[in-house]
Amino acid sequence: DPSAPTVCGLPLKYVSLFTLAIQNALLTIIMHYSRVSTAPAQAYSAASAVLVNELLKGGISLAIALMRIDADIGAPFSFTRAMQLMSPARWHLRLRRLRREIFSNDCWKLSIPAILYVIQNNLQFVAASNLDVATFQVTYQMKILTTAAFSVMLLRRKLSATKWLALLFLAMGVGIVQIQSGARKVHPTPPPSFAAESIEGDLPNVGDLLGAAPTHTMRPLTGFMAVCAACMTSGLAGVYFEMVLKNSQADLWVRNVQLSLFSLIPALVPIVFTAEAGYPGQGWLGRLFRNFTPWAWATVLTQVAGGLVTAIVIKHADNILKGFATSLSIILSFLASVLLFGFTITPAFVLGSSTVLGATWMYNQPEQKGSADGSTISLL
Ligand code: C5P
Repeated sequence: DPSAPTVCGLPLKYVSLFTLAIQNALLTIIMHYSRVSTAPAQAYSAASAVLVNELLKGGISLAIALMRIDADIGAPFSFTRAMQLMSPARWHLRLRRLRREIFSNDCWKLSIPAILYVIQNNLQFVAASNLDVATFQVTYQMKILTTAAFSVMLLRRKLSATKWLALLFLAMGVGIVQIQSGARKVHPTPPPSFAAESIEGDLPNVGDLLGAAPTHTMRPLTGFMAVCAACMTSGLAGVYFEMVLKNSQADLWVRNVQLSLFSLIPALVPIVFTAEAGYPGQGWLGRLFRNFTPWAWATVLTQVAGGLVTAIVIKHADNILKGFATSLSIILSFLASVLLFGFTITPAFVLGSSTVLGATWMYNQPEQKGSADGSTISLL
């Protein structure tokens, strides 16, 4: 398609899919490290991270939407035109148009994916704290399954027998990795920085991964349940966002602003209700950012980038191709976790991961002409 948008001559569709694969691998590693590298009492608040993520993503989307709303901004530069663009009258016009678009009649539709994504983004932290990087990555691939299910239900997409078979293999591969992760031995050398303490709240012991004292076991079952729930919200929210986006003329960045605005409410709930007393001299900002190490910031910034790229992928490709991109990131983060976290490769892990990758490949084989997948966006 010659009219498709490009970046440096390459189709935006593939650039965004590739960027998403890299981002996914990075996020899993950085998020996990940000959780396990500090003593448990010094853990940053996941709820704060989710809130800051939404604020930054919303702010960036707002800035892009504001630039896109004025077609003249992209025109060749001239001093007089630049002055006109910066004039208060022009700003007033721009802001009024943008406000009208953001608070459109159908903006409520974004409240559904917004709530789902906030839940998902919180669940990710629980999963990353209780599962090792590779197991998390592979198990999270089950979102291909939920995405398919919701595509069938909401987008009325029809799946061929090959695709259903691929989904079955996917579930089997995830199962194999899951079973072996419970039995796997941990790396024997504990890093000196990791103190033997118990972890508060929803973050049970995570010492196992880095090989701390044997009393430090992560809770793979807790992690697994968190991933399963996150897969449900991922599939539903992704398909719902795709449906809203492709079913209307509204700009992607306006949709993103709406998504972030609706996210603020559920993102604030855990912060308001878990507000801790007893930090004299610390204002609410201090409490919000308590223990925000550079690793915590790196996690949030990687998530922000991921959210923006995900939106581009859903617009220019679709949720199913998105699944393919993220399964590529398994290989990347698997190799990284061998190097960084002393992850041991077991034959079962190799078998399970290969099954997942094979299934993803099979799922993404082009359909034969005349077969299923006449997708119609019929709801809403
Ligand atoms: O795992 P999954 O691909 O479903 O994760 C999607 C991520 O992208 C979520 O963290 C969600 O908050 C983010 N997202 C976003 N803006 C969109 C769509 C998704 O920030 N328009």
